[in-house]
Amino acid sequence: MRNWVIGETGQLARALSAARPGLLTLSRARLDLSQAPEIIAQRLDDLAGRHSRPDAIILAAAYTDVDGAQSSPDLANAINARAPGAIATWCAARDIILIHISTDYVFDGKASAPCRADDPPAPVNQYGQSKLDGERAVMASKCRGAILRTAWLYDAAGPNFLTAMIAQDAAGNPLRVVNDQIGRPTYAGDLADAALTAMDALIDAPKPCKIYHVTNSGAPVSWAGFAAAILPTARITGVASSDRPRTAPRPAYSVLDISDFERDFGVTLRGWKDALDFVLKQRRAQHET
Ligand SMILES: NC(=O)c1ccc[n+]([C@@H]2O[C@H](COP(=O)([O-])OP(=O)(O)OC[C@H]3O[C@@H](n4cnc5c(N)ncnc54)[C@H](OP(=O)(O)O)[C@@H]3O)[C@@H](O)[C@H]2O)c1
Repeated sequence: MRNWVIGETGQLARALSAARPGLLTLSRARLDLSQAPEIIAQRLDDLAGRHSRPDAIILAAAYTDVDGAQSSPDLANAINARAPGAIATWCAARDIILIHISTDYVFDGKASAPCRADDPPAPVNQYGQSKLDGERAVMASKCRGAILRTAWLYDAAGPNFLTAMIAQDAAGNPLRVVNDQIGRPTYAGDLADAALTAMDALIDAPKPCKIYHVTNSGAPVSWAGFAAAILPTARITGVASSDRPRTAPRPAYSVLDISDFERDFGVTLRGWKDALDFVLKQRRAQHET
């Protein structure tokens, strides 16, 4: 059975394809998530007719422009909430497992200990609100599967925080990075492995959809601390978020408690520093060839 990934060009979709080459990836051209729910359902029917029905779908595509969502909340909502609801409803009617991906930005950042999956969400920006609405639409469908909330996702190729820091440093630009937002970076390759583990387990033993937190492990860090780990010899100036205003506010503390995923799926993602070392080595190897 050939399972599907909705998404093709994004960080997680690329990592899923690399980890399991037999997956059918669906680009925006094949399935545009901004379309109406009935068109999405029709496209899924067409795809199932052409490629045979999957046992599971991983929904890896999303509207991920956090600042852009502030001025385009309707588009963010269509892609991040309405489309996941339509896909989950389609899956529920066919007993197809859905692995949906969500975000630490559903939280308001006021916690002082790692957030658990059942802690009350309260997004501080439109992106987080659209992702929370998507979680609720998926849960309302009564599909089987899992919602994996992750955080601070990156890989070797980007675009992401790591590639932006390396590019700025290479251009000789001063690195002023916020030091009052705390989280845990997550390597897309490790999230892909975790999502595939959950998918395989849920195909074998389907369960009602449940929310899990999945990030790399290790001590929480600020964006400035993450930048310093990426570029250990660069001069990085830590600044307050108020000194670097962005269109969308960000939660100050969005560390996720990952123990439920570890308990139910037997997987602990490696420490974020080990994952970063791996990614930096990957980049060096790519640049040498
Ligand atoms: N990036 C992070 O730091 C982060 C943090 C927490 C959670 N997450 C969540 O993790 C998941 C994966 O994120 P990522 O970083 O891999 O995303 P990404 O690299 O930004 O890629 C987003 C993907 O979504 C696709 N997409 C956007 N609009 C679409 C549409 N209308 N129809 C179909 N596809 C569309 C894009 O396709 P095109 O290439 O055609 O535009 C792209 O492939 C998302 O659910 C995201 O919300 C991400």
